[in-house]
Amino acid sequence: MKKIHFLSFLLLCIASTVCGQEIFIGNAPFRTSTSLNGKWEYVLDPFRTEQMGGKSIYRNATPQNKTDRVEYSFNAAQTLWVPGSWNTQKPELTYYEGNIWYRRKFDVDKYSTDKRYFVYVGAANYIAKVSVNSESVGRHEGGFTPFCFEVTHLLQEKDNYLIIGVNAARRADNIPAEVADWFNHSGITRDVLLIETPKTFISNHFMALDKSTLGDKTRRIKGNIVLNGKKMPQNVQIQIPELKTKKQIPVASDGTAHFTLEAPKLKLWSPETPKLYRICIIAGEDSLNDEIGFRSIETRGKQILLNGKPIFLKGICLHDENPLRRDRAHSADDAALVLGWAKELGCNFLRLAHYPHQENIVRMADKEGILLWEELPLYWGIQWQNPVVLKKAKQQYSELIQRDFNRASSIIWSIANETAISPSRNAFLAELASYVRSLDNTRLISAACKKDQEADGHPDNVYTYNDPLMEHLDIISFNEYLGWYGGSPSECRNKSFKMGLEKPVIVSEFGGGAMQGMHGDSLTRWSEEFQVYLYEESLRMFDQIDGLAGMAPWILVDFMSPLRQLHGIQDGWNRKGLISEKGAKKKAFYTLKKFYENK
Ligand code: GCU
Repeated sequence: MKKIHFLSFLLLCIASTVCGQEIFIGNAPFRTSTSLNGKWEYVLDPFRTEQMGGKSIYRNATPQNKTDRVEYSFNAAQTLWVPGSWNTQKPELTYYEGNIWYRRKFDVDKYSTDKRYFVYVGAANYIAKVSVNSESVGRHEGGFTPFCFEVTHLLQEKDNYLIIGVNAARRADNIPAEVADWFNHSGITRDVLLIETPKTFISNHFMALDKSTLGDKTRRIKGNIVLNGKKMPQNVQIQIPELKTKKQIPVASDGTAHFTLEAPKLKLWSPETPKLYRICIIAGEDSLNDEIGFRSIETRGKQILLNGKPIFLKGICLHDENPLRRDRAHSADDAALVLGWAKELGCNFLRLAHYPHQENIVRMADKEGILLWEELPLYWGIQWQNPVVLKKAKQQYSELIQRDFNRASSIIWSIANETAISPSRNAFLAELASYVRSLDNTRLISAACKKDQEADGHPDNVYTYNDPLMEHLDIISFNEYLGWYGGSPSECRNKSFKMGLEKPVIVSEFGGGAMQGMHGDSLTRWSEEFQVYLYEESLRMFDQIDGLAGMAPWILVDFMSPLRQLHGIQDGWNRKGLISEKGAKKKAFYTLKKFYENK
Protein backbone atom coordinates (compact mmCIF):
# COMPACT_ATOMS: atom_id res chain seq x y z
CA MET A 1 0.00 0.00 0.00
CA LYS A 2 1.62 3.21 -1.18
CA LYS A 3 2.00 5.36 1.91
CA ILE A 4 0.89 8.96 1.64
CA HIS A 5 3.99 10.98 2.37
CA PHE A 6 3.11 12.31 5.78
CA LEU A 7 6.61 12.02 7.13
CA SER A 8 7.78 15.37 5.79
CA PHE A 9 4.65 16.97 7.11
CA LEU A 10 5.17 15.43 10.43
CA LEU A 11 8.69 16.84 10.65
CA LEU A 12 7.35 20.17 9.55
CA CYS A 13 4.60 20.22 12.18
CA ILE A 14 6.92 19.14 14.95
CA ALA A 15 9.65 21.55 13.87
CA SER A 16 7.27 24.47 14.07
CA THR A 17 6.21 23.39 17.55
CA VAL A 18 9.73 22.77 18.77
CA CYS A 19 11.17 26.07 17.58
CA GLY A 20 8.15 27.90 19.04
CA GLN A 21 7.57 29.61 15.71
CA GLU A 22 4.56 29.38 13.49
CA ILE A 23 2.27 26.46 14.41
CA PHE A 24 -0.03 25.34 11.60
CA ILE A 25 -3.59 24.72 12.79
CA GLY A 26 -5.61 22.88 10.15
CA ASN A 27 -9.38 23.28 9.83
CA ALA A 28 -8.91 26.70 11.46
CA PRO A 29 -12.21 28.26 10.35
CA PHE A 30 -14.05 25.44 12.13
CA ARG A 31 -12.18 25.51 15.42
CA THR A 32 -13.41 27.26 18.58
CA SER A 33 -12.41 30.86 18.01
CA THR A 34 -13.24 34.53 18.41
CA SER A 35 -13.25 36.61 15.25
CA LEU A 36 -11.02 39.65 15.41
CA ASN A 37 -12.36 40.99 12.10
CA GLY A 38 -13.67 44.53 12.07
CA LYS A 39 -12.24 48.05 12.40
CA TRP A 40 -8.57 48.17 13.44
CA GLU A 41 -6.66 51.37 14.20
CA TYR A 42 -3.53 51.90 12.12
CA VAL A 43 -0.24 53.82 11.98
CA LEU A 44 1.56 54.49 8.70
CA ASP A 45 5.26 53.65 8.48
CA PRO A 46 6.13 54.63 4.89
CA PHE A 47 9.87 54.12 5.22
CA ARG A 48 9.46 50.80 7.03
CA THR A 49 11.46 52.04 10.02
CA GLU A 50 9.19 50.08 12.41
CA GLN A 51 9.59 52.92 14.89
CA MET A 52 8.67 56.58 15.31
CA GLY A 53 10.87 58.97 17.28
CA GLY A 54 12.96 56.09 18.52
CA LYS A 55 10.02 54.09 19.91
CA SER A 56 9.06 50.73 18.32
CA ILE A 57 5.54 50.92 16.96
CA TYR A 58 4.59 47.38 18.04
CA ARG A 59 5.18 48.39 21.65
CA ASN A 60 2.06 50.59 21.53
CA ALA A 61 3.93 53.38 23.37
CA THR A 62 1.89 56.07 25.12
CA PRO A 63 3.15 59.24 26.89
CA GLN A 64 3.84 58.47 30.56
CA ASN A 65 3.45 62.15 31.58
CA LYS A 66 2.61 65.50 30.00
CA THR A 67 6.23 66.04 28.96
CA ASP A 68 6.83 62.60 27.47
CA ARG A 69 7.53 62.56 23.69
CA VAL A 70 5.80 59.79 21.71
CA GLU A 71 5.48 60.43 17.98
CA TYR A 72 2.73 57.98 17.09
CA SER A 73 -0.57 56.92 18.59
CA PHE A 74 -3.04 54.14 17.91
CA ASN A 75 -5.54 55.75 20.27
CA ALA A 76 -6.07 58.78 18.08
CA ALA A 77 -5.61 56.83 14.84
CA GLN A 78 -7.77 56.31 11.79
CA THR A 79 -9.12 52.82 11.13
CA LEU A 80 -9.10 50.19 8.40
CA TRP A 81 -11.44 47.27 7.89
CA VAL A 82 -9.94 43.83 8.43
CA PRO A 83 -10.06 41.72 6.29
CA GLY A 84 -9.51 43.90 3.25
CA SER A 85 -6.71 45.44 1.24
CA TRP A 86 -5.86 48.92 2.47
CA ASN A 87 -5.39 50.21 -1.08
CA THR A 88 -9.06 50.46 -1.93
CA GLN A 89 -10.27 51.65 1.47
CA LYS A 90 -8.66 55.10 1.28
CA PRO A 91 -7.67 57.12 -1.81
CA GLU A 92 -4.39 58.14 -0.19
CA LEU A 93 -3.48 54.43 0.17
CA THR A 94 -4.26 53.34 -3.42
CA TYR A 95 -0.65 52.79 -4.45
CA TYR A 96 0.82 52.71 -0.92
CA GLU A 97 3.24 49.78 -0.46
CA GLY A 98 5.01 50.81 2.73
CA ASN A 99 4.33 49.41 6.21
CA ILE A 100 1.07 49.71 8.04
CA TRP A 101 0.84 48.78 11.72
CA TYR A 102 -2.65 47.63 12.66
CA ARG A 103 -3.94 47.43 16.23
CA ARG A 104 -6.90 45.48 17.58
CA LYS A 105 -7.86 45.65 21.26
CA PHE A 106 -9.77 42.68 22.70
CA ASP A 107 -10.87 40.86 25.82
CA VAL A 108 -10.82 37.08 26.05
CA ASP A 109 -14.25 35.58 26.51
CA LYS A 110 -14.30 32.73 29.09
CA TYR A 111 -10.55 33.18 29.59
CA SER A 112 -8.96 30.12 31.19
CA THR A 113 -5.44 29.11 32.11
CA ASP A 114 -6.46 25.56 31.08
CA LYS A 115 -6.61 26.67 27.44
CA ARG A 116 -4.06 27.57 24.78
CA TYR A 117 -4.57 30.58 22.54
CA PHE A 118 -3.37 31.23 19.00
CA VAL A 119 -3.59 34.22 16.67
CA TYR A 120 -4.60 32.91 13.23
CA VAL A 121 -4.33 35.08 10.09
CA GLY A 122 -5.83 33.79 6.83
CA ALA A 123 -3.38 35.92 4.82
CA ALA A 124 -1.46 39.18 5.05
CA ASN A 125 0.33 40.58 2.02
CA TYR A 126 3.32 40.43 2.09
CA ILE A 127 5.38 40.27 5.33
CA ALA A 128 3.55 40.29 8.68
CA LYS A 129 5.08 40.89 12.12
CA VAL A 130 2.77 39.90 14.97
CA SER A 131 2.89 41.10 18.56
CA VAL A 132 0.56 40.80 21.54
CA ASN A 133 0.62 43.14 24.53
CA SER A 134 3.91 44.63 23.29
CA GLU A 135 5.67 41.28 22.93
CA SER A 136 6.67 40.03 19.48
CA VAL A 137 5.35 36.54 18.69
CA GLY A 138 6.50 35.93 15.15
CA ARG A 139 7.05 36.94 11.55
CA HIS A 140 5.47 35.48 8.42
CA GLU A 141 6.44 35.95 4.78
CA GLY A 142 4.06 35.22 1.92
CA GLY A 143 0.97 37.11 0.88
CA PHE A 144 -1.50 34.28 0.35
CA THR A 145 -1.14 31.49 2.94
CA PRO A 146 -2.43 31.25 6.54
CA PHE A 147 -0.26 31.40 9.63
CA CYS A 148 -0.66 31.01 13.40
CA PHE A 149 1.35 32.05 16.43
CA GLU A 150 0.78 30.89 20.01
CA VAL A 151 -0.01 33.74 22.41
CA THR A 152 -1.07 31.77 25.51
CA HIS A 153 1.84 33.10 27.58
CA LEU A 154 1.00 36.73 26.81
CA LEU A 155 -2.77 36.92 27.17
CA GLN A 156 -4.83 38.27 30.04
CA GLU A 157 -8.59 38.27 30.47
CA LYS A 158 -9.08 41.97 29.65
CA ASP A 159 -7.42 44.79 27.72
CA ASN A 160 -5.23 42.84 25.34
CA TYR A 161 -3.97 44.37 22.14
CA LEU A 162 -2.80 42.64 19.00
CA ILE A 163 -0.49 44.65 16.70
CA ILE A 164 0.30 43.35 13.23
CA GLY A 165 2.79 45.22 11.06
CA VAL A 166 2.31 44.50 7.35
CA ASN A 167 5.03 45.29 4.81
CA ALA A 168 3.67 45.29 1.26
CA ALA A 169 6.86 46.11 -0.60
CA ARG A 170 7.54 44.17 -3.80
CA ARG A 171 11.10 42.83 -3.80
CA ALA A 172 13.30 40.89 -6.19
CA ASP A 173 13.63 38.03 -3.66
CA ASN A 174 9.90 37.85 -2.89
CA ILE A 175 7.41 35.32 -4.32
CA PRO A 176 6.16 36.92 -6.61
CA ALA A 177 9.03 39.26 -7.42
CA GLU A 178 8.68 42.91 -8.35
CA VAL A 179 6.53 42.81 -11.50
CA ALA A 180 3.23 40.95 -11.82
CA ASP A 181 0.15 41.53 -13.91
CA TRP A 182 -2.19 41.99 -10.97
CA PHE A 183 -2.84 44.60 -8.29
CA ASN A 184 -0.68 44.26 -5.19
CA HIS A 185 -3.61 44.26 -2.76
CA SER A 186 -1.84 45.01 0.51
CA GLY A 187 -2.57 44.44 4.17
CA ILE A 188 -4.49 41.91 6.23
CA THR A 189 -6.57 40.52 3.39
CA ARG A 190 -8.24 37.52 5.07
CA ASP A 191 -9.82 36.66 8.46
CA VAL A 192 -8.08 37.08 11.82
CA LEU A 193 -9.14 34.69 14.59
CA LEU A 194 -8.19 34.07 18.20
CA ILE A 195 -8.28 30.28 18.30
CA GLU A 196 -8.54 28.49 21.64
CA THR A 197 -7.65 24.86 22.23
CA PRO A 198 -7.16 22.44 25.10
CA LYS A 199 -3.59 22.00 26.34
CA THR A 200 -3.17 19.12 23.87
CA PHE A 201 -5.02 19.52 20.58
CA ILE A 202 -5.35 18.25 17.03
CA SER A 203 -2.94 20.41 15.07
CA ASN A 204 -3.84 18.94 11.69
CA HIS A 205 -5.25 15.85 9.99
CA PHE A 206 -4.67 14.42 6.54
CA MET A 207 -6.95 11.87 4.85
CA ALA A 208 -7.19 10.47 1.35
CA LEU A 209 -8.52 7.50 -0.58
CA ASP A 210 -5.98 4.71 -0.98
CA LYS A 211 -6.20 4.72 -4.77
CA SER A 212 -4.97 1.11 -4.92
CA THR A 213 -8.42 0.16 -3.57
CA LEU A 214 -10.35 2.28 -6.08
CA GLY A 215 -11.83 -0.73 -7.87
CA ASP A 216 -12.29 -2.85 -4.76
CA LYS A 217 -15.59 -3.58 -3.07
CA THR A 218 -14.04 -2.38 0.19
CA ARG A 219 -12.25 0.85 -0.40
CA ARG A 220 -9.66 2.09 2.05
CA ILE A 221 -8.94 5.52 3.51
CA LYS A 222 -5.50 6.28 4.83
CA GLY A 223 -4.49 9.18 6.95
CA ASN A 224 -2.56 10.79 9.73
CA ILE A 225 -3.53 12.92 12.70
CA VAL A 226 -0.96 15.26 14.24
CA LEU A 227 -1.35 16.31 17.88
CA ASN A 228 0.31 19.23 19.62
CA GLY A 229 0.88 19.40 23.35
CA LYS A 230 3.02 18.19 26.21
CA LYS A 231 0.88 15.28 27.37
CA MET A 232 -0.39 12.96 24.66
CA PRO A 233 -3.50 10.75 24.95
CA GLN A 234 -2.92 7.05 24.33
CA ASN A 235 -5.39 6.95 21.46
CA VAL A 236 -7.34 9.19 19.15
CA GLN A 237 -10.70 8.21 17.77
CA ILE A 238 -11.85 8.80 14.23
CA GLN A 239 -15.47 8.40 13.16
CA ILE A 240 -17.31 8.57 9.85
CA PRO A 241 -20.90 8.34 11.14
CA GLU A 242 -22.54 7.86 7.73
CA LEU A 243 -20.34 4.83 7.12
CA LYS A 244 -20.86 3.62 10.66
CA THR A 245 -17.07 3.54 10.94
CA LYS A 246 -15.24 4.26 14.18
CA LYS A 247 -11.64 3.44 15.04
CA GLN A 248 -9.28 3.94 17.98
CA ILE A 249 -5.80 4.78 16.76
CA PRO A 250 -2.74 4.61 18.99
CA VAL A 251 -0.76 7.84 19.29
CA ALA A 252 2.98 7.50 18.67
CA SER A 253 5.50 9.22 20.94
CA ASP A 254 5.88 12.04 18.40
CA GLY A 255 2.20 12.90 18.64
CA THR A 256 1.10 11.39 15.34
CA ALA A 257 -1.51 8.74 14.68
CA HIS A 258 -1.27 7.01 11.32
CA PHE A 259 -4.30 4.99 10.30
CA THR A 260 -6.18 3.17 7.59
CA LEU A 261 -9.95 2.79 7.57
CA GLU A 262 -11.84 0.12 5.67
CA ALA A 263 -14.77 1.85 3.97
CA PRO A 264 -16.88 -0.72 2.09
CA LYS A 265 -19.70 1.62 1.06
CA LEU A 266 -17.58 4.69 0.36
CA LYS A 267 -19.13 6.87 -2.37
CA LEU A 268 -16.50 8.70 -4.43
CA TRP A 269 -16.40 12.48 -4.86
CA SER A 270 -16.74 13.85 -8.40
CA PRO A 271 -18.12 16.97 -10.14
CA GLU A 272 -21.30 15.03 -10.88
CA THR A 273 -21.62 13.69 -7.32
CA PRO A 274 -19.60 15.92 -4.94
CA LYS A 275 -20.13 13.57 -2.01
CA LEU A 276 -18.68 14.82 1.30
CA TYR A 277 -18.51 12.82 4.54
CA ARG A 278 -18.61 14.30 8.02
CA ILE A 279 -15.46 13.22 9.82
CA CYS A 280 -15.18 13.43 13.61
CA ILE A 281 -11.83 13.21 15.37
CA ILE A 282 -11.58 12.99 19.17
CA ALA A 283 -8.22 13.35 20.91
CA GLY A 284 -8.34 13.65 24.70
CA GLU A 285 -10.20 16.89 25.49
CA ASP A 286 -10.04 18.07 21.86
CA SER A 287 -12.35 17.16 19.03
CA LEU A 288 -13.07 18.47 15.57
CA ASN A 289 -15.39 17.87 12.65
CA ASP A 290 -14.50 18.21 9.00
CA GLU A 291 -16.27 17.46 5.71
CA ILE A 292 -14.10 15.46 3.31
CA GLY A 293 -14.66 13.98 -0.15
CA PHE A 294 -12.68 10.97 -1.35
CA ARG A 295 -11.51 10.54 -4.93
CA SER A 296 -8.44 9.57 -6.90
CA ILE A 297 -6.70 11.68 -9.54
CA GLU A 298 -3.95 10.30 -11.74
CA THR A 299 -2.75 10.25 -15.33
CA ARG A 300 -2.49 7.42 -17.83
CA GLY A 301 -0.59 8.32 -21.01
CA LYS A 302 -2.23 11.50 -22.26
CA GLN A 303 -5.35 11.15 -20.11
CA ILE A 304 -6.26 12.60 -16.74
CA LEU A 305 -8.24 10.02 -14.76
CA LEU A 306 -10.67 11.01 -12.04
CA ASN A 307 -11.67 7.89 -10.09
CA GLY A 308 -10.14 5.83 -12.88
CA LYS A 309 -12.16 7.46 -15.68
CA PRO A 310 -10.84 9.98 -18.26
CA ILE A 311 -12.04 13.54 -17.65
CA PHE A 312 -11.79 16.71 -19.76
CA LEU A 313 -11.21 19.83 -17.67
CA LYS A 314 -13.55 22.55 -18.91
CA GLY A 315 -11.98 25.44 -17.12
CA ILE A 316 -11.45 29.15 -16.78
CA CYS A 317 -8.79 31.16 -14.96
CA LEU A 318 -9.60 33.39 -12.01
CA HIS A 319 -7.90 35.94 -9.78
CA ASP A 320 -8.81 36.06 -6.07
CA GLU A 321 -10.61 39.37 -6.33
CA ASN A 322 -14.17 40.65 -6.03
CA PRO A 323 -14.16 43.27 -8.82
CA LEU A 324 -17.45 44.75 -7.63
CA ARG A 325 -15.72 45.71 -4.37
CA ARG A 326 -12.30 46.30 -6.00
CA ASP A 327 -10.82 44.16 -3.23
CA ARG A 328 -9.27 40.78 -2.54
CA ALA A 329 -11.99 38.14 -2.19
CA HIS A 330 -12.24 36.97 1.41
CA SER A 331 -15.80 35.80 2.10
CA ALA A 332 -18.12 32.95 1.22
CA ASP A 333 -20.25 35.47 -0.72
CA ASP A 334 -17.22 36.44 -2.80
CA ALA A 335 -16.62 32.75 -3.54
CA ALA A 336 -20.27 32.14 -4.39
CA LEU A 337 -20.25 35.06 -6.86
CA VAL A 338 -17.43 33.72 -9.03
CA LEU A 339 -18.37 30.04 -8.66
CA GLY A 340 -21.85 30.95 -9.87
CA TRP A 341 -20.40 32.60 -12.97
CA ALA A 342 -18.09 29.61 -13.62
CA LYS A 343 -20.98 27.14 -13.35
CA GLU A 344 -23.07 29.30 -15.68
CA LEU A 345 -20.20 29.10 -18.15
CA GLY A 346 -20.37 25.30 -17.98
CA CYS A 347 -17.03 24.82 -16.18
CA ASN A 348 -16.03 21.80 -14.12
CA PHE A 349 -12.56 23.26 -13.50
CA LEU A 350 -11.03 26.53 -12.22
CA ARG A 351 -7.41 27.64 -12.39
CA LEU A 352 -6.95 29.68 -9.22
CA ALA A 353 -4.27 32.01 -10.61
CA HIS A 354 -1.51 32.95 -9.66
CA TYR A 355 -1.33 32.43 -5.89
CA PRO A 356 -3.30 30.54 -3.18
CA HIS A 357 -6.89 31.82 -3.13
CA GLN A 358 -9.07 32.24 -0.04
CA GLU A 359 -10.06 29.01 1.68
CA ASN A 360 -13.79 29.67 1.20
CA ILE A 361 -13.57 29.05 -2.53
CA VAL A 362 -11.74 25.74 -2.06
CA ARG A 363 -14.31 24.48 0.44
CA MET A 364 -17.18 25.72 -1.72
CA ALA A 365 -15.66 23.98 -4.77
CA ASP A 366 -15.75 20.77 -2.68
CA LYS A 367 -19.47 21.26 -2.21
CA GLU A 368 -20.21 22.40 -5.77
CA GLY A 369 -18.08 19.76 -7.54
CA ILE A 370 -15.62 22.12 -9.24
CA LEU A 371 -12.06 20.81 -9.76
CA LEU A 372 -9.24 23.19 -8.88
CA TRP A 373 -5.71 24.01 -9.99
CA GLU A 374 -3.82 25.80 -7.21
CA GLU A 375 -0.45 27.54 -7.41
CA LEU A 376 2.20 29.68 -5.77
CA PRO A 377 3.18 32.95 -7.53
CA LEU A 378 6.44 31.58 -8.97
CA TYR A 379 5.70 33.93 -11.78
CA TRP A 380 7.94 35.49 -14.47
CA GLY A 381 11.26 36.72 -12.98
CA ILE A 382 12.03 34.87 -9.72
CA GLN A 383 15.48 34.80 -8.10
CA TRP A 384 16.03 31.17 -9.04
CA GLN A 385 19.66 31.17 -7.99
CA ASN A 386 18.81 32.38 -4.47
CA PRO A 387 18.52 29.48 -1.95
CA VAL A 388 16.51 31.74 0.39
CA VAL A 389 13.83 32.06 -2.30
CA LEU A 390 13.65 28.26 -2.67
CA LYS A 391 13.20 28.00 1.11
CA LYS A 392 10.37 30.56 0.92
CA ALA A 393 8.71 28.59 -1.89
CA LYS A 394 8.87 25.39 0.17
CA GLN A 395 7.51 27.15 3.28
CA GLN A 396 4.60 28.69 1.36
CA TYR A 397 3.80 25.46 -0.48
CA SER A 398 3.82 23.52 2.80
CA GLU A 399 1.33 26.03 4.26
CA LEU A 400 -0.92 25.73 1.20
CA ILE A 401 -0.81 21.91 1.25
CA GLN A 402 -1.44 21.79 5.01
CA ARG A 403 -4.47 24.02 4.45
CA ASP A 404 -5.97 22.20 1.44
CA PHE A 405 -4.73 18.60 1.67
CA ASN A 406 -8.20 17.33 2.57
CA ARG A 407 -10.02 19.19 -0.20
CA ALA A 408 -11.18 16.73 -2.89
CA SER A 409 -11.75 19.56 -5.39
CA SER A 410 -8.06 20.50 -5.42
CA ILE A 411 -6.36 18.18 -7.92
CA ILE A 412 -3.36 20.06 -9.30
CA TRP A 413 -0.44 21.86 -7.63
CA SER A 414 1.25 24.14 -10.15
CA ILE A 415 4.79 25.27 -9.50
CA ALA A 416 5.45 27.96 -12.10
CA ASN A 417 3.91 30.37 -14.57
CA GLU A 418 5.71 31.60 -17.70
CA THR A 419 9.22 31.23 -16.33
CA ALA A 420 12.17 31.50 -18.69
CA ILE A 421 14.23 28.35 -19.14
CA SER A 422 17.64 28.53 -17.41
CA PRO A 423 19.82 26.09 -15.46
CA SER A 424 18.99 27.78 -12.12
CA ARG A 425 15.24 27.88 -12.88
CA ASN A 426 15.26 24.25 -13.99
CA ALA A 427 17.10 23.15 -10.84
CA PHE A 428 14.89 25.24 -8.53
CA LEU A 429 11.66 23.88 -9.99
CA ALA A 430 12.89 20.30 -10.16
CA GLU A 431 13.66 20.45 -6.45
CA LEU A 432 10.35 22.16 -5.67
CA ALA A 433 8.44 19.52 -7.66
CA SER A 434 9.98 16.70 -5.65
CA TYR A 435 9.43 18.61 -2.40
CA VAL A 436 5.72 19.13 -3.18
CA ARG A 437 5.41 15.44 -4.08
CA SER A 438 7.10 14.50 -0.80
CA LEU A 439 4.37 16.39 1.06
CA ASP A 440 1.48 15.17 -1.06
CA ASN A 441 1.56 12.31 -3.55
CA THR A 442 -2.23 12.26 -3.91
CA ARG A 443 -2.37 15.11 -6.47
CA LEU A 444 -0.84 15.98 -9.85
CA ILE A 445 1.87 18.54 -10.51
CA SER A 446 1.87 20.95 -13.44
CA ALA A 447 3.32 24.30 -14.57
CA ALA A 448 2.81 26.66 -17.51
CA CYS A 449 5.76 25.76 -19.75
CA LYS A 450 7.40 27.70 -22.53
CA LYS A 451 7.22 26.78 -26.22
CA ASP A 452 10.59 26.27 -27.90
CA GLN A 453 9.97 29.11 -30.35
CA GLU A 454 9.91 31.59 -27.48
CA ALA A 455 13.54 30.73 -26.83
CA ASP A 456 14.74 30.89 -30.42
CA GLY A 457 11.98 33.11 -31.70
CA HIS A 458 11.79 31.63 -35.18
CA PRO A 459 8.26 31.62 -36.67
CA ASP A 460 6.96 28.12 -37.27
CA ASN A 461 3.62 26.52 -37.95
CA VAL A 462 4.30 23.72 -35.45
CA TYR A 463 4.74 24.92 -31.88
CA THR A 464 7.02 22.45 -30.12
CA TYR A 465 7.48 22.04 -26.38
CA ASN A 466 10.69 20.59 -24.97
CA ASP A 467 10.96 22.63 -21.78
CA PRO A 468 13.20 20.56 -19.42
CA LEU A 469 10.70 21.32 -16.66
CA MET A 470 8.24 18.97 -18.36
CA GLU A 471 9.98 15.80 -17.16
CA HIS A 472 9.12 16.77 -13.57
CA LEU A 473 5.44 17.35 -14.28
CA ASP A 474 2.48 15.00 -14.44
CA ILE A 475 0.61 17.38 -16.74
CA ILE A 476 2.15 19.68 -19.35
CA SER A 477 0.53 23.10 -19.45
CA PHE A 478 1.26 26.19 -21.49
CA ASN A 479 -0.11 29.68 -22.11
CA GLU A 480 -0.61 30.70 -25.75
CA TYR A 481 -1.86 34.10 -26.95
CA LEU A 482 -1.50 33.81 -30.73
CA GLY A 483 -3.84 36.42 -32.18
CA TRP A 484 -3.56 38.73 -29.22
CA TYR A 485 0.16 39.05 -28.45
CA GLY A 486 1.42 38.80 -32.00
CA GLY A 487 -0.21 37.44 -35.12
CA SER A 488 -3.89 37.60 -35.96
CA PRO A 489 -6.69 35.20 -35.00
CA SER A 490 -6.71 33.91 -38.60
CA GLU A 491 -3.18 32.53 -38.09
CA CYS A 492 -4.62 30.04 -35.62
CA ARG A 493 -5.82 28.07 -38.66
CA ASN A 494 -2.32 26.99 -39.65
CA LYS A 495 -0.80 26.23 -36.26
CA SER A 496 -0.37 22.82 -34.69
CA PHE A 497 1.29 21.66 -31.49
CA LYS A 498 3.85 18.96 -30.66
CA MET A 499 4.69 18.03 -27.11
CA GLY A 500 8.04 16.55 -26.24
CA LEU A 501 6.55 14.01 -23.83
CA GLU A 502 3.55 11.63 -23.75
CA LYS A 503 1.64 13.43 -20.98
CA PRO A 504 -1.79 15.06 -20.71
CA VAL A 505 -1.91 18.67 -21.93
CA ILE A 506 -3.79 21.62 -20.44
CA VAL A 507 -3.85 24.98 -22.23
CA SER A 508 -3.53 27.03 -19.04
CA GLU A 509 -4.15 30.44 -20.64
CA PHE A 510 -5.32 32.00 -23.88
CA GLY A 511 -7.65 34.84 -24.84
CA GLY A 512 -7.69 38.57 -25.41
CA GLY A 513 -9.14 41.80 -24.15
CA ALA A 514 -12.46 43.49 -24.79
CA MET A 515 -14.09 46.55 -23.29
CA GLN A 516 -17.55 45.41 -22.32
CA GLY A 517 -20.11 47.35 -24.40
CA MET A 518 -17.62 48.36 -27.10
CA HIS A 519 -18.68 47.01 -30.50
CA GLY A 520 -17.12 46.93 -33.96
CA ASP A 521 -16.13 44.41 -36.61
CA SER A 522 -14.09 41.30 -35.74
CA LEU A 523 -10.80 43.08 -36.46
CA THR A 524 -11.47 46.05 -34.18
CA ARG A 525 -9.15 45.56 -31.18
CA TRP A 526 -10.93 45.87 -27.79
CA SER A 527 -14.38 45.25 -29.30
CA GLU A 528 -16.43 42.35 -28.00
CA GLU A 529 -16.58 41.08 -31.57
CA PHE A 530 -12.77 40.84 -31.79
CA GLN A 531 -12.75 38.81 -28.55
CA VAL A 532 -15.39 36.44 -29.98
CA TYR A 533 -13.36 35.97 -33.18
CA LEU A 534 -10.20 35.30 -31.20
CA TYR A 535 -12.01 32.73 -29.03
CA GLU A 536 -13.56 30.98 -32.02
CA GLU A 537 -10.19 30.61 -33.77
CA SER A 538 -8.28 29.72 -30.59
CA LEU A 539 -10.76 27.07 -29.47
CA ARG A 540 -10.70 25.43 -32.89
CA MET A 541 -6.87 25.43 -32.89
CA PHE A 542 -6.42 24.03 -29.37
CA ASP A 543 -9.14 21.43 -29.81
CA GLN A 544 -6.92 19.66 -32.35
CA ILE A 545 -4.06 19.08 -29.89
CA ASP A 546 -3.33 15.40 -29.46
CA GLY A 547 -3.65 14.70 -25.74
CA LEU A 548 -5.62 17.82 -24.87
CA ALA A 549 -7.04 17.05 -21.43
CA GLY A 550 -8.28 20.50 -20.45
CA MET A 551 -8.17 24.22 -20.90
CA ALA A 552 -8.47 27.35 -18.78
CA PRO A 553 -8.91 30.50 -20.91
CA TRP A 554 -7.68 33.77 -19.47
CA ILE A 555 -9.90 34.89 -17.63
CA LEU A 556 -13.39 34.77 -16.07
CA VAL A 557 -13.67 38.41 -15.02
CA ASP A 558 -11.72 41.65 -15.63
CA PHE A 559 -9.24 42.27 -12.83
CA MET A 560 -7.20 45.15 -11.43
CA SER A 561 -3.67 45.54 -12.77
CA PRO A 562 -1.33 48.57 -12.68
CA LEU A 563 0.26 47.25 -15.89
CA ARG A 564 -2.90 48.10 -17.82
CA GLN A 565 -3.16 51.88 -18.21
CA LEU A 566 -4.68 52.46 -21.67
CA HIS A 567 -6.97 55.39 -20.84
CA GLY A 568 -10.59 54.95 -21.77
CA ILE A 569 -10.22 51.19 -22.21
CA GLN A 570 -8.12 49.73 -19.37
CA ASP A 571 -7.60 52.46 -16.73
CA GLY A 572 -5.95 49.99 -14.36
CA TRP A 573 -7.98 46.92 -15.41
CA ASN A 574 -6.89 43.89 -17.42
CA ARG A 575 -9.78 43.51 -19.87
CA LYS A 576 -9.34 39.83 -20.87
CA GLY A 577 -12.29 38.84 -18.69
CA LEU A 578 -15.41 37.29 -20.20
CA ILE A 579 -17.27 39.39 -17.64
CA SER A 580 -16.65 43.06 -16.84
CA GLU A 581 -15.70 44.37 -13.40
CA LYS A 582 -19.34 45.40 -13.04
CA GLY A 583 -20.54 41.84 -13.61
CA ALA A 584 -21.71 42.36 -17.23
CA LYS A 585 -21.09 39.40 -19.57
CA LYS A 586 -19.30 39.97 -22.87
CA LYS A 587 -20.27 38.13 -26.07
CA ALA A 588 -17.28 35.78 -25.83
CA PHE A 589 -18.74 34.39 -22.56
CA TYR A 590 -21.37 32.70 -24.71
CA THR A 591 -18.80 31.55 -27.28
CA LEU A 592 -16.96 29.56 -24.61
CA LYS A 593 -20.21 28.40 -22.99
CA LYS A 594 -21.36 26.92 -26.30
CA PHE A 595 -18.00 25.23 -26.86
CA TYR A 596 -18.17 23.55 -23.44
CA GLU A 597 -21.79 22.48 -24.01
CA ASN A 598 -20.63 20.59 -27.09
CA LYS A 599 -17.44 19.22 -25.51
C1 GCU B 1 0.20 36.07 -18.96
C2 GCU B 1 0.16 35.91 -17.46
C3 GCU B 1 -1.08 36.52 -16.84
C4 GCU B 1 -1.39 37.83 -17.53
C5 GCU B 1 -1.81 37.49 -18.94
C6 GCU B 1 -2.09 38.79 -19.76
O1 GCU B 1 0.15 34.85 -19.55
O2 GCU B 1 0.26 34.57 -17.02
O3 GCU B 1 -0.83 36.73 -15.46
O4 GCU B 1 -2.42 38.56 -16.86
O5 GCU B 1 -0.77 36.79 -19.63
O6 GCU B 1 -1.16 39.20 -20.45
O7 GCU B 1 -3.18 39.32 -19.62
